[in-house]
Amino acid sequence: MEEIAPRIVPWARRHGRKGLPWQQNRDPYRVWVSEIMLQQTRVETVIPYYQKFIDRFPNVCTLGSADQDQVLAHWSGLGYYARARNLHRAARQVCVQYDGVVPTSRDALEQLAGIGRSTAAAILSLAYEIPEAILDGNVKRVLCRYHGVKGWPGKSNVQRQLWSHAERHMPDSSCREYTQAIMDLGATVCTRKQPECITCPLENSCVAREKGLVEQLPHPKPGKTLPTRDCSMLIFFHCDDQEVLLQRQPEQGIWGGLWSFPELQSTQQWSKLKEESALPEPEQWKNIRHTFTHFHLQINPLYIKLRRPPKPRIEGAEWVTLDTVNQRGLPAPVQRIIQQLQQGKSI
Ligand code: ADE
Repeated sequence: MEEIAPRIVPWARRHGRKGLPWQQNRDPYRVWVSEIMLQQTRVETVIPYYQKFIDRFPNVCTLGSADQDQVLAHWSGLGYYARARNLHRAARQVCVQYDGVVPTSRDALEQLAGIGRSTAAAILSLAYEIPEAILDGNVKRVLCRYHGVKGWPGKSNVQRQLWSHAERHMPDSSCREYTQAIMDLGATVCTRKQPECITCPLENSCVAREKGLVEQLPHPKPGKTLPTRDCSMLIFFHCDDQEVLLQRQPEQGIWGGLWSFPELQSTQQWSKLKEESALPEPEQWKNIRHTFTHFHLQINPLYIKLRRPPKPRIEGAEWVTLDTVNQRGLPAPVQRIIQQLQQGKSI
């Protein structure tokens, strides 16, 4: 198995997130507070809360001996208040039971309110340089894709596989850097939507990348009903020249940088095109359903067969011959339609 630490640690030195307030001082209490705040909340939201919280409760015992009202007042607006109540309770326990020293074993940490295995491992690796692997949402996504792990990560057998991968990748040294690196990779490159695979230090050995499964992994919770988005694709085919009209998709979209058929924007657009280029009535092909992680795309292909000029013009679209079209990046459903055209069939 390819090791990932030797590739992501140098990557993180150059491209990882730096200067976050909890990275300035790796005191275990501070790491703990930041990890709890970051559990269900975005980094930008957490920053001001974290700073005020640490100013008011600079160590475990100031937090442990504070009134719950005060603690909750400093959490107000962050949401998921059980996090604050648990943190407060656990701080009191550390102050009394451990003399204010955050424990250095996973077992002891996991006994504390609000600390699960991944949070315990984050405290141990980030604060104490102890090689315990984390498995938060970002890391699950990286590992599901890198190893091509199928199934919903909330399922116990999937979870077990992921923990085993996480443990195997944890290096014996540079634990802090490695933990921060894998979190940063998940948060900034291997993102849920529009991951930036071309900049990823793991690209050349990522199973999801190799098999074209990046969009599908991690699998969503089964039974969860995904919303459906409908679109009509204009399949312009010039049969004399054997050309199709393709349009490069905007970088920010689901198919950023890939080539797809132009989508019909409105009936007015169709009327205008029809008038300009004397188009025939389109032929409706069977719908194609393509599932992304978070929605279904229902494609209504409208086939428009052309023989003579003028060829219609659509901004950003190019006529591409059928024998060179496969040299371009094509989304899977577009590839299916093109194949049908290449085989001279309709669908
Ligand atoms: N999310 C969870 N832990 C984090 C950390 N230490 N830095 C940035 N994002 C995080």
